[in-house]
Amino acid sequence: MGNKPAGGLEGVIAGQTRLSTVGVDGVGLTYLGYSIEDLAAHAEFEEVAFLLLYGHLPTRDELMQFKARLASARSIPPSLKSVLEQLPGSAHPMDVLRTGCSALGVLEPEVDFADQHRAAERLLACMPSLLVYWYHFQTSGRRIEVEVDADSIADHFLHLLHGRPASEQHRRAMHVALILYAEHEFNASTFAARIVASTLSDYHSAITAGIGALRGPLHGGANEAAMELIDQFQDPDSAEGSLLEMLAGKQKIMGFGHRVYKQCDPRSDIIQKWSKQLCEAAGQQRLYSVSERIEQVMRREKRMFPNLDFYSASAFRCLDIPTAMFTPLFVLSRITGWSAHIFEQRGDNRLIRPAAEYIGPAARPWLPVDER
Ligand code: COA
Repeated sequence: MGNKPAGGLEGVIAGQTRLSTVGVDGVGLTYLGYSIEDLAAHAEFEEVAFLLLYGHLPTRDELMQFKARLASARSIPPSLKSVLEQLPGSAHPMDVLRTGCSALGVLEPEVDFADQHRAAERLLACMPSLLVYWYHFQTSGRRIEVEVDADSIADHFLHLLHGRPASEQHRRAMHVALILYAEHEFNASTFAARIVASTLSDYHSAITAGIGALRGPLHGGANEAAMELIDQFQDPDSAEGSLLEMLAGKQKIMGFGHRVYKQCDPRSDIIQKWSKQLCEAAGQQRLYSVSERIEQVMRREKRMFPNLDFYSASAFRCLDIPTAMFTPLFVLSRITGWSAHIFEQRGDNRLIRPAAEYIGPAARPWLPVDER
């Protein structure tokens, strides 16, 4: 028997990608060569989505056409509305998105691989509609109109959720959050989507697998779990006291640590600045100061840094987004990264099928049922 393989495939290079670099030299993130700092400072989310789906930044015309196609793809088919209406209000919105994606794949399946870009644009455009349609129906019984006048996915989502156009600050913050969440190499959900794509399965099955993997608190679910943690504390001192107890009890603090980054998560610095601004504007200084103290304690006690999910939590709270929608927001963005990986996998496919080291019982004879 050889050495035990690294748990969780840590450090294993499981394939090639041209889509992003994560943590080269322990830091840094680029999408097709563009740094996350530049993209977050200058781009609209739609420019990043186009970059991932089509491999280059859009020209002005391409961007206008892309946005127009997305705007015209926001409607929900009536039979999907009835599916959403059957799903209980107690459901987790991630389960609603997973079901919604799967149902759309039944009602409007990908015709063949040449249809993959249409399928991706349709899903990207209509996932905010599905999520918020279900949310309003289940919380207030209202059947909202999902085709509102909105220039972008960020505007569309915020407008549907709050019933009015968002402020300029909130729109920009949402663009940045979506940009930061769009792509991240061979993370668990992307790898799940690539595995499904490698069997030559359909687009919606691969994305559904991605949503399922993203839901867990060790992955995308961490932004919700971080909010639940922060919400427990009235002030920074009580946060510090409780955190020390949690660490002494060997509990994991959600929103900290990363498998690949060793020094910092470059996305965290960006969202932290937004969190600070948004908390100030919303009069939520307590939220920010509690978050900051948790960060200080984690750095001091564990030498750990916040990942993207930690300060996203307070930023999303200031945008008046319900906590249960934090991870779904990640989906609305990551559809772009998942789709790009599915296309890349299909472009040079070989079935992903690793091997396992057998550690079970030695070969033994079959026993009839009465002799066991
Ligand atoms: N809080 C406290 N301790 C943590 C920790 C955290 N968030 N993350 C890791 N550790 C500790 C572990 O307890 C372990 O300690 P030990 O060696 O004494 O047992 C050590 O650091 C290694 O952790 P491990 O879970 O094996 O690292 P990993 O590479 O498998 O996991 C994560 C990476 C992201 C899953 C992990 O850091 C984590 O669970 N973070 C919280 C969830 C989260 O924020 N996920 C979003 C990621 S973007």
